Amino acid sequence: MKITHLKTNRIENPLGFALDRPSFSWIVEDTPDQVQTAAQFILAQDPEFQQVIFDSGREEGSRIDSLAYRPDIHLAPRTRYYWKVRVWGKTEHAESAAAWFETAKMDEAWQAQWITPWGAPDFEDNALHPILSKSFVLPAQALNARIYICGLGLYHLELNGDKVGNEYLTPYCNAYDQWLQYQTFDLTGHLVAGENRIAVMLGNGWYKGRYCGHGGQHSNVYGDRFALICEVRVILQTGEELVLGTDDAWTATRSPVLASDIYDGEIYDARLVGASDTCGVKPIDIDPGKLQARRSLPVCINEERKPAAVLHTPAGETVLDMGQNMVGWVRFRTSAPAGAEIHLQYGEVLQGGNFYRENLRSAKAEYTYIADGREAIVQPYFTFYGFRYVKVTGWPSELNPDDFTGCVVYSKMDIIGDIQTANEKVNRLFQNALWGQKGNFLDIPTDCPQRDERLGWTGDTQMFSGAACFNMESSAFYAKFGYDCGLEQAKRGGMVPMVVPAVDMAGGGSSAWGDVATILPWNVYEFYGDKAILEQQFESMRSWVDFIKAADDATGSKRLWTSGFHFGDWLALDASDPESRLGGTPEDFIASAYYYYSTRLVARAAAVLGKTEPATYYSALAGEIKAAIQKEYFTPTGRLAINTQTGFVLALFMNLAPEEFRSRVIHDLIFRLRKDKLHLRTGFVGTPYLCRVLSNHGANDLAYRLLLNEDYPSWLYAVNLGATTIWERWNSLNPDGTISSTGMNSLNHYAYGSIVEWMYRDMCGLNPSSGDDGVTGFRRARIAPKPDHALQWARASYRSAAGLFESAWRIGEQGELSFELTIPFNAEAQVVLPDAALGEISINGQKSAEGTQQGSDLILHLAAGTYRITYQPTRPYRKTFSTRTPIVQIVQDEQAKAIVAGVFPILGTLDDSMLAAMGEASLRDMANTPFLSMTPEQLDEIDTVSYTHLTLPTKRIV
Ligand code: BGC
Repeated sequence: MKITHLKTNRIENPLGFALDRPSFSWIVEDTPDQVQTAAQFILAQDPEFQQVIFDSGREEGSRIDSLAYRPDIHLAPRTRYYWKVRVWGKTEHAESAAAWFETAKMDEAWQAQWITPWGAPDFEDNALHPILSKSFVLPAQALNARIYICGLGLYHLELNGDKVGNEYLTPYCNAYDQWLQYQTFDLTGHLVAGENRIAVMLGNGWYKGRYCGHGGQHSNVYGDRFALICEVRVILQTGEELVLGTDDAWTATRSPVLASDIYDGEIYDARLVGASDTCGVKPIDIDPGKLQARRSLPVCINEERKPAAVLHTPAGETVLDMGQNMVGWVRFRTSAPAGAEIHLQYGEVLQGGNFYRENLRSAKAEYTYIADGREAIVQPYFTFYGFRYVKVTGWPSELNPDDFTGCVVYSKMDIIGDIQTANEKVNRLFQNALWGQKGNFLDIPTDCPQRDERLGWTGDTQMFSGAACFNMESSAFYAKFGYDCGLEQAKRGGMVPMVVPAVDMAGGGSSAWGDVATILPWNVYEFYGDKAILEQQFESMRSWVDFIKAADDATGSKRLWTSGFHFGDWLALDASDPESRLGGTPEDFIASAYYYYSTRLVARAAAVLGKTEPATYYSALAGEIKAAIQKEYFTPTGRLAINTQTGFVLALFMNLAPEEFRSRVIHDLIFRLRKDKLHLRTGFVGTPYLCRVLSNHGANDLAYRLLLNEDYPSWLYAVNLGATTIWERWNSLNPDGTISSTGMNSLNHYAYGSIVEWMYRDMCGLNPSSGDDGVTGFRRARIAPKPDHALQWARASYRSAAGLFESAWRIGEQGELSFELTIPFNAEAQVVLPDAALGEISINGQKSAEGTQQGSDLILHLAAGTYRITYQPTRPYRKTFSTRTPIVQIVQDEQAKAIVAGVFPILGTLDDSMLAAMGEASLRDMANTPFLSMTPEQLDEIDTVSYTHLTLPTKRIV
């Protein structure tokens, strides 16, 4: 038995974070034991555990919960605590290594002042980027030293000439008008006895650079002055404590950074290193009460890549191809002569083989380096780029790709999920969504990382959050976003702004976007099993629904949401007006559906938190909304009045249809899809749920059809065009590779990457339990894989909060199904085997009579362990053709086409336009039309023949 992944608030050994009431979590693995019989948690002030300050003692059973153990402890400021756990199973036990966390200043007052450069005109009017510095003498070697620091807009900290820590773009991006994050760094190894110099370079960043929606025209949204506060605390080997804080004795020097901006990039003149332009500083009036310990995860270089190729374009440009649309920057080595200017420009796509970046709109996304003649390793300090291609000019010699390294920069989160299938294009699609997450998880969840936007768009965040929680350990990242969301709402009467942080964008309160307030915390709770997120966000969740209810009450208390601005089914393809971005599903229907869904989530969260009154109130409100929706949008015989894919999908996913009409709604969705030639018409709202609804309502095969479509519009259309991330639009590029528009067209926009949530949940079947009874975080899972002949096999692995789950399936040569499942220690799973008959399965090579038959499914309850389950399914899992198969599918398969053409020769002569006109019609659909005549005998003759797809060529089976 081994105890691994010890985390505090889901962060490994957090230094200086806001901890509130900490949650401790860990994973137990590598043991034949299935359940925890006892556990013990110990907290101490030293790594040897001599000064224990809390000991749970050995607690029998699972009361000490590895998903979130939250003992009642009181913490002191600036203190490191060590903790460990012991876990017992039936036959083994283990003790973990020690983990630690260290508190920040908590409520302690600062012995430092906010300072800003002052005393020379260029500094006073902010024309120069400054370095604020101070030299100091330590009379003895440091035993222990910390710095608590915040610099505005961004800061880069050096001690004695070395960068401190491995984080970039500090102090990160948050609602700066309401709180300012300070970081804590360990300085011990940087200090020497004698003279030391601390230097902090400042850049513009999100705080005071150009940053805002739609054009990014605004600068200084949060402030217009560079500013710094830091407090250094050193304990010397002599035992003496020294405190050094920013004050008016610091100096400002001109920085080599001439310009910096998130959107536009950076200009660096190496000749200015050590410049003599200096001036003093003065205190600046920033409320120190706004300073709070950090919640942002560290933003680090998490991967490095070498250029895949150096291109010489038809236009004569030299362009590095990184082989992957990525976010961060390119670092290079140079010894260019003094005064040489090296210029990099970043772009996502080539056009006509040439460098291109019109779709970045006004973002310049460039970097200029003016050399000083010395060899240097160069990268920007205060910006980042979303790019695959880098155009290099001014390189003084033949360009050697070895001199360049792509730095992939995002918030440090473990990658915990993986999917693989028999189809390489699907595998690429999965990777594209993962890259979309890496690229858009740079401190805040952004819509896109490249153009003049890069904002925490709430809708995009909400839609991708399930997929994100599978791919990466996202809880701490989202907890910080949720914290900002709550603060922004508190300023706006519960309304969620369009983007979080709100920057200076007006408005908000749009359905599906604002519902990030409820959906995000619920997802984080379900995935990671820690109620702390619901506690933190409950007020935000509740006030969002109250905001909608107030809008409803102001328009007649209809229990529908019919007012305000909504983004609708953003970018859906079914709007009657081709210019419209809002899609074809009426906004009031979408808004009312989310009104219901969010109200339900608030009721559920209240119940989990033991808040009985709100639980009852919001559940009753949800009931009223549902009744109003049914009255308004369903005919008395159950027809949904909204005839769009997204309309049906929301009705089914959110359970809006009257129970007795559910099957009709499913039927009508399928009919709609057939009318749409089994292609997506959905936008941001319908897409995340479409395949999930199909797989869970008896139309799993159609979910696979949509997944595997390769022509526009489809996910694989982009893959076929070489996409390495998810695009903003279904047709961001035209089939010939030209960009479809420039106004709003990002090639790294993760919203449609939400399909990977279906891959985990339905294709491979991994689901957390609903969480309503307080058991979730995959402690209890529902594993319901849904294979389809269109893929021969698929495999997911997911290191959940409870430990590693694996779920793989394969369809064998003879159509038999096999599943390989792993369930971690102290977890259990309800396993749903499709088309399985009681007594017909074997588990780990043994025939088994286990399970409960539920229709065509067989339900097993499995404890921790590894299982291989095989059986012959009760219906064929091979591709079969019949007269009910769409004709377009028959003609795509040579063997099927030959069989049918043998009976019905005209099939061989249908041209593309005739086939297109038939849509999804089958031979039987067409038999009664004036266009094709077929006798019942001919149709029956064809139906006597079908064959397997996976084992081609093979015998025909009747
Ligand atoms: C963003 C989106 C966002 C949308 C809302 C766009 O500019 O990039 O992804 O959700 O605006 O209208």
